[in-house]
This record gives sequence, structure tokens and C-alpha cells, in this order.
Amino acid sequence: MSAELISYDPAGILLPNHGLTSADLPGLESNLNAARDEVLSDAKLWAEGGNVPTEKEPLDAGFHELPNRLLDEYRDQGADSEVARIQATADRLAGAVDRVPVLGIGGSYMGARACMEACCHPYHNELSRDARGGRPRISYEGNNVDNDAMQGLCDLLSTETDSGWAINVISKSGGTLETAAAFRILLRKLIETYGDNAASRVVPVTGEGSKLFNLAKALGCQEFYEVPDGVGGRFSVLSAVGLLPAAVMGLDIVQLLQGAAAMNEHFRTASVGENVVLDYTGICHLMEEKHGCDIRLLSTWGKRLEAVGLWYDQLLSESLGKQERGAMPLTVVNTRDLHSRGQQHQEGKRDKVITNVIIGTGERAPLAIGSSDLDQDQLNELADKTLPDVLTAATQGTNQAYREDNRPTADLHLPTLNEHTLGQVFQMLMLATVTEGRLIGINPYGQPGVEAYKKNMNAILRA
Ligand code: PA5
Repeated sequence: MSAELISYDPAGILLPNHGLTSADLPGLESNLNAARDEVLSDAKLWAEGGNVPTEKEPLDAGFHELPNRLLDEYRDQGADSEVARIQATADRLAGAVDRVPVLGIGGSYMGARACMEACCHPYHNELSRDARGGRPRISYEGNNVDNDAMQGLCDLLSTETDSGWAINVISKSGGTLETAAAFRILLRKLIETYGDNAASRVVPVTGEGSKLFNLAKALGCQEFYEVPDGVGGRFSVLSAVGLLPAAVMGLDIVQLLQGAAAMNEHFRTASVGENVVLDYTGICHLMEEKHGCDIRLLSTWGKRLEAVGLWYDQLLSESLGKQERGAMPLTVVNTRDLHSRGQQHQEGKRDKVITNVIIGTGERAPLAIGSSDLDQDQLNELADKTLPDVLTAATQGTNQAYREDNRPTADLHLPTLNEHTLGQVFQMLMLATVTEGRLIGINPYGQPGVEAYKKNMNAILRA
């Protein structure tokens, strides 16, 4: 598998009249280096269990070294390590069942979905079991309270009569109502279907001692996975929260972790101007400060990165949307959204900084448009062009149009899309988010604003 690093190219911003000059990023170098130092010392402080100064609380910096820690443990402890246990549970489930609803919301859901859309077959759930490599179909619930959607899933589960189904329920707090309600409803169905064997078909990922933990213990579940202390929900994709569902769907979780560890090393050692995390952070920050570009578009090309973008929407919103500050993230999927949002991006308010996420080599051989006797669509002149040719032309044409109207765009290049590059992207965006927090003086951890709706909802329901 490719170990090439992803790269960031802000050339479409560092142009006369496009926003910044090539002197702006070096001008921010000492601030960016200071922010990086603080992020590195946060990780150290967290790992050593030192006293956290009040102004730094909460300090959920555990995500940073987590990939390295899990890989070291895997190397040293083999079958007893958490990674090997996750793989074993995933293989057991894959051998026993044909569908796994993954229950969770926010950080306990977005990462698994991002992994699936990026790295599984695009029609994974529609394939035969053999074509899925013997892995189960994956469904997502507990991420809303939609009566029709839940009953639709129940309809589907009723048809899983051969190998049947199991539940992977994920909630760090173990008390989130959306997930808890979905679990109760599906657990009832699971017990109706499998009686005393239901417990072996439930794998919880939760905090020790949570309501979910206690419920799963009482049910008799044997396999539990913990969300490590000091790893916040939206930073938890490379813990069991994302790794267990990823392993169930057949992904290589060691490669995910190795990609993230490679990004850690790059972040620690590369200089401004060559550091994908610091450069992305610096350019986005400068565009916001100097030009009021507080809408941050992740413009993904092709279909596989939409869920990664939605995962990032949560990460940026909950981390920096505080004190009436923080950029507004927006995920765009092109070419699809050129036919919907494109007009606004081309001619709307100049409040956006666009980062194209471009995948180099695709997984499959390029498919040509081909010639046809039915040429009423006049595509024969493009017969030898392939779908990647068309996507590249669309990307270049769009960027050219933006450039001609002084609309700033940068590119994030993924040499290819696989578990290794996806692990890099996850870690890069998490590190960029906490680095920006330190740069602008906003604690990127904690999400106090999410609590208000929960309090009101519970009060209304229990009145
Ligand atoms: O980032 C966060 O902590 C949140 O978005 C949580 O992931 C989300 O609220 C789900 O919480 P829990 O995992 O406790 O059910």
C-alpha cells in the first residue's frame, strides 16, 4: 500500500489579487510554530497525566498520540493488543452475521461512515456476500430520531433470516438519547429474534461505567471496547469508535493508524511552507483574518469523500465555533454541486476559501466514454476520453474560472485513496483544527454549546 504523503498546494491563493502573497505565510511562521509547539506540549502533558492548568480545561489531547500508542501496543502485545482484539471481534461478527447496524451520532458515527464511503466498494451493501469479501452489510442508525427510517431498518432486519444481524452500539457518554432510544428498540427486536443468544450479537463501544456500559453488562455482553479517556467524540475516529466498524466492513485498520502516525511525524518535523497541517491552518486563518473568508469549503471531487467532509464539518464546527467566532465549514461534492452551489461559489459573496480535495490515481482502470452508432448525443468526438479525464477537466476548468474572477482556491492532493491516505487526512484535519484553536486562542476541546438542546429536549420529554 502506498506510503506517499498527502500534500497541500495553495498556489491558487498566492497570486496577485487572489488573496495572499507568497510573503504572507512566512510572515505567520513564528505564530504557527508556537501553535504547533503548544499542540505538541498539550499531547505530552496529556500523556504524562500532568496537572492541566485551568485555562486549558478541558484538554482532550489524547487523540494526538493515539495512533502511535495503538501501533506500539500491537507490535509489542500481538493478539492481546486492542487492535488485534478489534480485528478478532470484527472477524467473529463477519463470520456470524450479514448485517450490522452501527448505532451512534456525531463523533460516534461520522468517522465510520467516512471510512466506508472512502474505502469500501461504492455499492458495498448491494453486493453479494462473496463480492463483499464475506463482510456484513453496514447500516447506520441512532444518528437521528426518524420514525420512518427506524422502521425501514426494522423491515430490512426482518429479512435477514439466514446469517442474521448484530448491533455495534457506540456512545462515549453512553447516555445520548438518539443512540440510546435506537439501541433500546433494536435490542428488543434482537432479543425477540435470538433470545438468549442476543448478548453475543451486541458489541458496545463506550466509556466505562456509562449507562450503556451497565446495560450491556446486565445483558451479558462479553466484548466491550472503551473510548479512551481524553479522546473527545469528534477526535475519536482512530479509536475503537471508528476502528471497530471499519474492521467489520473489512478495512485495514493498521494502515489507517499508520497513515495517521505518518502525519504525526510530518506535523512534528516539517517546516512552514512544507507542512501540510501548518500551511493549511495558516492559509485558512490568513484568508479569514485579512479577507473575511469565514466560510471554509472542502470541495471534494468524485463521490468518495463526502462523508469525510461531513466528519470535518463536525470537527471544525464543534471545535472552533465558540465565543462568536470560528469559520463555517461546508462540504461540497463536485461535479455534483457545480450544478447546485456552483453559481454561489463563482459569483456570490467573497466570503469563501475553497480547498479542493483531489485524488490522484483511482482504484479502478479508467473507463472510456467510447464510440457509438447512436451519436445523437455527439459524444463520439470524446470517445477516447475517460471518466477521470472528464473529472480532471472539470476540476481544472472550475479552478480556472475561479482564478479568472480572483476566487481563492487551494488543493489538497491525495496520491490515491486508501486506508493509509485516509488515516493521514483524518489526522491532518484534527491536528489543523487544534493548531488553529491554539493560534487564535480558542480551546478546541469541549462543546458546551451542544448541551443546551439536550437539556431542553430532556426537560420537555420528562415534563
Ligand atoms: O464531539 C463530540 O463529543 C460529540 O459530537 C459526540 O460525539 C456526540 O454528541 C455523541 O456523543 P456520545 O458518543 O457520548 O453519544
